[in-house]
Amino acid sequence: MAVIAGDGMTATDRTRRVVVTGAGTGIGRAIALRLARAGHTVVGTARAPSRAAELSGDARAAGLPLEYRPLDLSSRNQVEALAASLAEGGGIDVLVNNAGYGIFGAVEDVQPEQVLRQFDVNLFGPLLLTRLLMPGLRERQGRIVWVGSLAGRQSLAFQGHYSATKAATAAVSDALRMELKPFGVHVTCVEPGDISTEFTSSRIVLGGEESAYAARAARSLAAVEREEHHGPSPECVARAVERVLARRRPPARVPAGRLGRTTALFLRLAPYDVAQWVVARLYRF
Ligand SMILES: NC(=O)c1ccc[n+]([C@@H]2O[C@H](COP(=O)([O-])OP(=O)(O)OC[C@H]3O[C@@H](n4cnc5c(N)ncnc54)[C@H](OP(=O)(O)O)[C@@H]3O)[C@@H](O)[C@H]2O)c1
Repeated sequence: MAVIAGDGMTATDRTRRVVVTGAGTGIGRAIALRLARAGHTVVGTARAPSRAAELSGDARAAGLPLEYRPLDLSSRNQVEALAASLAEGGGIDVLVNNAGYGIFGAVEDVQPEQVLRQFDVNLFGPLLLTRLLMPGLRERQGRIVWVGSLAGRQSLAFQGHYSATKAATAAVSDALRMELKPFGVHVTCVEPGDISTEFTSSRIVLGGEESAYAARAARSLAAVEREEHHGPSPECVARAVERVLARRRPPARVPAGRLGRTTALFLRLAPYDVAQWVVARLYRF
């Protein structure tokens, strides 16, 4: 019989098998470490096999129940292979779709291949992985957490495609939440504001000096980078994810980061044009 813990969680709730994508750096690494330290069995992913092996070695040395597998979300074969090996290994209880990156550039300056890659990594790959793991998650009454972004609530100039992937992530998360509710699977989209991670240095900046948008884009990029550098550590997002997993009925959307809740509330209540004006001032569009 499951033992009821003080906060209403059962003992079996406490030790779940969790997959965190993009767990080699930033928010994903903070989530993976936090959940492993809490006693969950965690499988993290990193793109480079050598990095996955190195991270697994570090976790083993630290005595953590955390192992890494290689995964590039833009490779359908790799997504299918990971899903198959997780199912063979007994399935999982929690999927945290965290991996992602951002392209920066005016819509006019971004080539179709770059748009496709942005959607492949941030949306289509995670969607495929989720779909493949869904039968097992339904069986085990598992959980799905999507790492979206407040940029999914208010689109940002020069980050239109990135914002679009995050708006789509939240839309898919909401739909899945309703579809999976009768099966006892809870789905939540955690939406961070600016966080200090490798996201900033990994950003792909497009459009050169000859771009019609060059000066405005450069000014905005500097403002965006400044906000991210001064943002909180990814630990605050990891805490938000841990809280989501601890709740019996987690909410659909969870803002995270400094002023995350206030920003989300403002974006919900302010007239749309006012919100856009404020965001344009902050990021100097
Ligand atoms: N930082 C922010 O301000 C912020 C704000 C809102 C939302 N977010 C979201 O939070 C999530 C994590 O970002 P972060 O801030 O932690 O940035 P990060 O440190 O750059 O981490 C991103 C992770 O995604 C992985 N990744 C990138 N491309 C991939 C691909 N093709 N296939 C598989 N994995 C891939 C990277 O894996 P490798 O180690 O293999 O490179 C990396 O571990 C992202 O979805 C991001 O959009 C970030």
